[in-house]
Amino acid sequence: MRNLTLLSVALALCGGGAATFAQDVQHGRRVSERWCSECHAIGPAPGKAGRTISFAAIAARQGITADMISSFLLMPHATMPNLPLSRKDAQDIAAFIMEMKK
Ligand code: HEC
Repeated sequence: MRNLTLLSVALALCGGGAATFAQDVQHGRRVSERWCSECHAIGPAPGKAGRTISFAAIAARQGITADMISSFLLMPHATMPNLPLSRKDAQDIAAFIMEMKK
């Protein structure tokens, strides 16, 4: 059952490919400030607020993509609390994080 749920999330994400242009980096930043900054440094530099890996460090990872980040956020994960994010929130956050790669 759990696998089925993961599969449908993955399919939903793939199906959303056409919508990838609609990502809103500013919205991603606002959602990140609200939900993520308690634990992650969300700025381009590893800020002192960070208690775990910074968003800049995530963006700098080899081979990371926005899809990987949004999938991670929407699937149940053990290392981090599950947050009440919509798919749009997750995609916008992913776009915001990937911006730091530039
Ligand atoms: C209560 C603390 C907490 C909050 C809030 C939190 N995280 Fe995390 N996050 C963690 C921890 C702990 C890890 C694991 C770090 C590690 O493995 O080194 C992590 C890991 C991650 C990772 C890396 C996953 C991987 O592949 O290793 C991403 C991406 C991430 N968080 C994004 C977010 C985003 C986006 C938000 C806000 C929506 C958020 N986190 C909110 C604690 C938190």
